[in-house]
Amino acid sequence: MTRKFENKVVIVTGGTSGIGLATAKAFSLEGASVFITGRRKEALEAAVRGIGGRVTGVQADMSKLVDIDRLYDAVQQKHAHIDVVFANAGGGEMAPLGAITEEHYEKTFATNVKGTLFTVQKALPLLRDGASIILTSSTTSVSGTPAFSVYSATKAAIRSFARNWILDLKDRHIRVNAVSPGVTDTAGLNELFGNGDQAENTKNYLASLIPAGRIGQPEEIAKAVLFLASDDASFVNGVELFVDGGQVQI
Ligand SMILES: NC(=O)c1ccc[n+]([C@@H]2O[C@H](COP(=O)([O-])OP(=O)(O)OC[C@H]3O[C@@H](n4cnc5c(N)ncnc54)[C@H](OP(=O)(O)O)[C@@H]3O)[C@@H](O)[C@H]2O)c1
Repeated sequence: MTRKFENKVVIVTGGTSGIGLATAKAFSLEGASVFITGRRKEALEAAVRGIGGRVTGVQADMSKLVDIDRLYDAVQQKHAHIDVVFANAGGGEMAPLGAITEEHYEKTFATNVKGTLFTVQKALPLLRDGASIILTSSTTSVSGTPAFSVYSATKAAIRSFARNWILDLKDRHIRVNAVSPGVTDTAGLNELFGNGDQAENTKNYLASLIPAGRIGQPEEIAKAVLFLASDDASFVNGVELFVDGGQVQI
């Protein structure tokens, strides 16, 4: 049986953990040549071993333009074009208004907003006409969370990129969509919630607020990303697809 992404070239930034790792695995299983990035060398090597198939790891901090250039240089050594960019690298920390530092602001915007912008812009010369770009936003793009305003603002910016870039890329028929996960069980989430029992308690509490009655798994976000990347979504453009168990609909 033909696999959905056979001979496609797919970029997954932040592909060493959580949502990015699950998505890179799913693309690889569907036959894609996948390039993943992450800052930590050991995590990158472990992810490459775990994903299997045709996967290349490029150690890169997506907030740094020279690192993004290195990623696309590595792609060009093997391929003439890119079919899918999943700009997913990101994260955030808690800081209530009144305790927000310049460093917190700069770091969060550099990774999430600057990183996403230049990951996509620098991919343009290699992107095939008709390619698909998926950006990782978050339910926080449309809803409030205590002590999470800077992160949430970055995710609203990312959602806005999708709306605007579909116009900039119109003539090339490149689709741009945002995927907005709700609470999803990843290392990044556990770290945010303080790990261990504290993280479990917070996750259980949040699960009780979600209509689906549980938090999400990274593989569930991956399925939505593969849908948006595929021809099945050929007329889906500029949307924000919430994958959140119904959290932001109530
Ligand atoms: N989990 C959730 O509940 C949730 C909900 C909504 C949205 N999201 C979003 O989903 C995305 C993935 O999060 P996750 O929960 O899967 O977190 P995660 O498990 O911490 O994974 C984050 C990935 O991004 C990489 N990364 C972080 N900063 C980077 C940078 N500057 N350059 C390159 N790679 C970087 C990390 O590797 P290194 O640390 O080695 O760089 C790792 O591979 C993020 O954009 C996050 O904001 C998550």
